[in-house]
Amino acid sequence: MTKVDVTILGGGPGGYLAAERLAHAGKKVVLVEADELGGTCLNVGCIPTKTLLNSAKLYSHALHSSAYGVNVEGASYDWAKMQSWKNEVVKGLVGGIGAMEKRLGVNVIKGYGVFKGPGRVEVNGELIESEHVIIATGSVPVIPPIPGLQDNPSVVDSTGLLSIPEVPGRLAVIGGGVIGVEFAQLFAALGSKVSVIEMMPEIAPMVDKDLAVMMRKSMPEITFSLGCKVTKVEGGTVHYLSAAGAEETVEADTILVAVGRKAAVEGWGAQESGLDLYRGGVVADERMRTNLPNVWAIGDVNGKSLLAHSAYRMAEVAVANILDPQAHRRGEILRTNMVPWVIYTQPEVAGVGLTEDQAREAGYEVVTATAPGYMSGRYVAETSFRAPGAAKIVVDAESQQVLGIQVIASYASEMIWGAVAVLELEMMLGDLRQLTIPHPTVSELIREAAWAVKI
Ligand code: NAI
Repeated sequence: MTKVDVTILGGGPGGYLAAERLAHAGKKVVLVEADELGGTCLNVGCIPTKTLLNSAKLYSHALHSSAYGVNVEGASYDWAKMQSWKNEVVKGLVGGIGAMEKRLGVNVIKGYGVFKGPGRVEVNGELIESEHVIIATGSVPVIPPIPGLQDNPSVVDSTGLLSIPEVPGRLAVIGGGVIGVEFAQLFAALGSKVSVIEMMPEIAPMVDKDLAVMMRKSMPEITFSLGCKVTKVEGGTVHYLSAAGAEETVEADTILVAVGRKAAVEGWGAQESGLDLYRGGVVADERMRTNLPNVWAIGDVNGKSLLAHSAYRMAEVAVANILDPQAHRRGEILRTNMVPWVIYTQPEVAGVGLTEDQAREAGYEVVTATAPGYMSGRYVAETSFRAPGAAKIVVDAESQQVLGIQVIASYASEMIWGAVAVLELEMMLGDLRQLTIPHPTVSELIREAAWAVKI
């Protein structure tokens, strides 16, 4: 039997960062991981997709570079090389995490851990006892009950599509959410004929509806079927009911199912141990405490926000509250309404806070303004074709507090943290207008949007 301060179940972004922070604070930590460190994000999620999307972006830049006075003759891509570069990136980063845990003295145990109740985790037949247990088992793809998806060699989830041996000639994507649109654009850029079938009236549900339309229109090479219900799949044929109720089909070589992910609560003792569960996963409060004493749940498994950066923040919140039970009074809680999100398409789309619709639903009297991409000199200089770009700001008319910022433009992923700071610091429109933002940058679109608000 091993005795430590904290046992962590799952070595994804939530689990490994919690281990690092705890070890830093002098705690004795065991990190249990059945597979590779890094979880979905590093191994089959954020990192490999962004690596492939970057290769596709370079290729599409090469194809379009003549508009900027640069001629690239015979531009082509090599899927096998893209794959090996992706694998190299993943291997390097996963290895880096292993090295960091080792340097900090975290005991990483490879094996499938089972939670046996407060302070008790069993792995490889051995019981580990600890004062605290952090559950960080992540999430798994949702496979909807559509006839013909199971045991169909044409059907893949995002993990399967990431390492598909050849770029499919025709790709059908069920679900126009984040995974759906990122993969759709990746393969469309590589020449696949791509169709996306989305149940809702618009793609990317978290995006402001004006920006979602701009986003969809900036991908004219992809066929989007909106408001459509997939009824069955037969081989490579997807059958669906169109928004008008007509029976339609799409033929594909590969069918990606991307209708969401769900908390991984099977197989590790969630039910048996008496943890409170709900549809979203393990119930946790804003400090990441579960209903069991000294048992914490962080990352996708608590269903609060299925994003790697949320998992990082949740890890820090849990650790802060383990180290100091009063930490929540210093703001060490997860503010889910301040979590930014990014879609890594071209142009990128990112946002934080409330959309216009959400703000109105929440009862605010709202004023908004949108600054078009051409208001940024840098955006104009670097965008010769199609993508319009914009920043939209949502402001409470009464208090003038900034409630939300969304951007569709190059670098949106990199600029959105500034918007997070605006919201976290509860800045008023006037405060935002007073900030000096470097010129020429695409970030200036946020400033332009702030000045365009009529209040
Ligand atoms: P999602 O929840 O973003 O989107 C799923 C989409 O599928 C929704 O638009 C939904 O209306 C649609 N849908 C559901 N059932 C359907 C059906 N039967 N037929 C047609 N459409 C249907 O989920 P997604 O894209 O699978 O992503 C999973 C998780 O991974 C999300 O939580 C996401 O935030 C995360 N992720 C984040 C990324 C990022 O931050 N850039 C990248 C990839 C994934």
